[in-house]
This record gives sequence, C-alpha cells and structure tokens, in this order.
Amino acid sequence: MQPLPGFRDLFPADFARRNYLVGRWRETARRYGFVEFDGPTLESAELYRKKNSGGEILGQLYEFTDKGDRAVALRPEVTPTLARMVAARHRDFPKPMRWFNVGTCFRYERQQRGRLREFLQFNCDLVGDGSPAADAEVIALLIDLLRSFGLGEGDFAIRLSDRSAWHDFMARHGVEKDRTAEFLTIVDRMEKMPAEKAAELLHPFGIGIGTLREFIAKAEIPALAPLLADLEVRGLRGYVRPDLGVVRGLAYYTGVVFEAFALHGNLRAIAGGGRYDRLLADLSDGSADLPAVGFGVGDAVLLELLNETPTAKAMEDAALKADAPVQVYIVIAAEERRPEALALAQQLREAGWRVGFPLGVEKVGKQFGAAEGAGASHAVVIGSEWPVVKVKRLADRHEKEVAKDALLPWLADSRC
Ligand code: HAM
Repeated sequence: MQPLPGFRDLFPADFARRNYLVGRWRETARRYGFVEFDGPTLESAELYRKKNSGGEILGQLYEFTDKGDRAVALRPEVTPTLARMVAARHRDFPKPMRWFNVGTCFRYERQQRGRLREFLQFNCDLVGDGSPAADAEVIALLIDLLRSFGLGEGDFAIRLSDRSAWHDFMARHGVEKDRTAEFLTIVDRMEKMPAEKAAELLHPFGIGIGTLREFIAKAEIPALAPLLADLEVRGLRGYVRPDLGVVRGLAYYTGVVFEAFALHGNLRAIAGGGRYDRLLADLSDGSADLPAVGFGVGDAVLLELLNETPTAKAMEDAALKADAPVQVYIVIAAEERRPEALALAQQLREAGWRVGFPLGVEKVGKQFGAAEGAGASHAVVIGSEWPVVKVKRLADRHEKEVAKDALLPWLADSRC
C-alpha cells in the first residue's frame, strides 16, 4: 500500500530534514519578535467561501460533510484561520501583533514538483499596522529566513508588486468591480500559459495582451518607494525586484504583494505573501478592522531548492551531522563489564549526551560500525582496563585513555 498521491511518508531521515527546516523557521521568526500560534486543521468550509478569503484555493479544498452534518474543509492555508482568531480576540493583544505558525495544509492540487496535497507551511503575519515599515519588516524576515539556509543573492529574489497599481489599471480600462478577482487571476496565471490562451481570456475585458505587457514592462510602482528605502538601509535592497507581473492568486490581497522565487531552474515560487487590509474586517463583519501583512512558505519547494544549491546543501548536511541520533557510543569490549557500561551510559545521558550501546553481545568491529552508522563523534571502549576507558574520536581515529571519572569533563571539553 502506497500513501495517497501528493501525501508523504516521512521516514526518520526525511523527518530530520524537516526538523532542520522548522528549526530555522522558528529561530528566524523569533529574531523578529514573532510568537507562535496554531489553530485547527479542520475548519468550517464557510470560512474559505466568505467574501475575499477564497480565490483559486476554493477549487482545491478537501471538503466533506462531517457526522454532525457540518460542511467542513481541511485548511488549505492558515491566513483565514489567523484572521478568524484575531477577529475573535484582537482586543486581548497589543498591536502590532507578530504571529507565526508552522502547520500542515491540504490542497487538492495537480501533482507536480514541489507541489503536494499535504504540506507543511510556515506563515508569518504582522497584524495592526498598515505602514510600509510593517511590509518591510515582513519582507526582511522572509529574506533573512532564506539566508539562514545559506541561500544568497545569486540563489533567490523577491518579486515585489502592488495590487493598488492593478486596481488603477483596471479602473482606467473599465474592468467592472465584481470582475476584478477574475481579471487578476488571469494576470497571475499569464506567465504560465500560452499567449493565445491569455489573449482569449482577456478578450471579454476588451484589453489586449500587448497593453497588459506594456503596463508590466513599465515596472514603475511609486507606492513602493518607502518600502524599498527601508530595505536599502537594512542592506537587503539587492534581494528585491519591483515587478508588476506578480499579482498573487489569492483573492484577499489589497496592496503590496510579493513572491520569493529561485533564480536557477524554472524560477519556481518558494514563498508568497502580501497585504490583506480587509480580510479581518470582512470575517468579523467590521468589528475587527485591522490591516495585516504576511507570507507563507512551504517545506517541499524549499527542500528542493536546498538540494539544488551546493552551499545550502553543505550547510544542511553539516547541521544534520551535528544533530546525529548518537553522539557517544559505548563499545563493550569485555562483556563482563556490561553493568559498568550501563551505569556509564546512564551517567552520560543524565549529563545530556545522546548515548548508544549494543543491547546484546556484539563483536567489537560491529559495534564500531554501529557507532559510525548512528553518526557518533566518539566511541568509549570499556574493557579489561576498567576503570580506565579508551575514547576514540571517530573522525580521525585519535585515541586517548581516560579514567572513567574524568570522562565527562573530557567529553565536555571536546565538544567546545
Ligand atoms: P500561497 O502562495 O498559496 O500563499 O502559498 C505560500 C507558499 O506555500 C507557496 O509559495 C509554497 O511554498 C507553499 N505551497 C502552497 N501550495 C503548496 C502545495 N500544494 N504544495 C507544497 N507547497 C505549497 C498562502 O498560502 C498565503 N496564505 C500566504 C500568506 C500568509 N499571505 C499572507 N499571509
């Protein structure tokens, strides 16, 4: 039996990679003063249907009727849940709120590289501040997040746009208000479809593809100036490219929108986000009228990018090696010393070391093999010399005899 298409079995090595990602996600969010929250993975389907919270995601919902006859859906994204939670209790929190989440999302998507039906998403959202300073803070967080994996200016960039520029465009070209979402969806998908198809979809709006391309090519977005100046003084301006071609597929964005994408390969989007100043008010019937900005990044695309980028891969390998399941392996060379070996293992574990040893009688060679297989940096050989033990650094086979009572301080020293 295989897992369902788009779902993954995470074996321990896969989980170790995921933990590496999540560790950096959390660490970077905390550097920016964000606090973690979570909500349910199952929500009322209505949450995604309410005005403005839907967009293309509605077609990808995993939805069903539960045993209590409720129309429910597995969350395809966390933003509507965040908005619902904030709308319910926003008075309890000083503004602006800096919240992050690491959570599983589900989308019934066509399977392709980096796109799954169940994935882990990291979201950072800043609620209660509508200024470009808040936009800059969130975008800087995203840049630092990608940098924390060893990715640099040559590996990714942030395409930055502003939906208000598109709203001006639509007003100038007579796009009716109730068709703006439909129009923006076409612009969002335009890069991925043949020109004839785009022209055909644009035809009912009376707008030619040439007009649209010309508008995108101009790439002047004066509203972005304060945000760009902010990123400039942080030394992060080089990562950002103003680009009107980005509009984002989700319906609720109102202002600045952005997408991080890989510069090599097929320019895949790694992360996406933007400002959604009306979602909270819409979900709370106006009682929580708070501006918000944030982004989401998925685990699958990011893991692929790390695999393809040698510096990032080397950094990940080193981190995984340092986080091996066993640090010290106790080799029992004389079986009659097993009680002393167990006592020593206990003592080392209580001191915080990750310790392994053979559960039964094993040849010494096999024990060393097990030590290396588990990623141990040191083997401690207990044999006839007890209470003196032999400590072997496995990387270079350097060996030293140490009295058992001196072992802990010796290991602590070797860790520094
Ligand atoms: P999104 O662009 O739909 O935005 O998703 C953000 C990121 O989640 C994508 O760039 C990708 O890394 C990952 N992702 C999305 N769908 C999949 C999938 N099927 N498989 C694997 N990874 C996927 C949002 O979800 C917004 N809620 C982000 C946001 C937060 N905007 C404001 N705050």
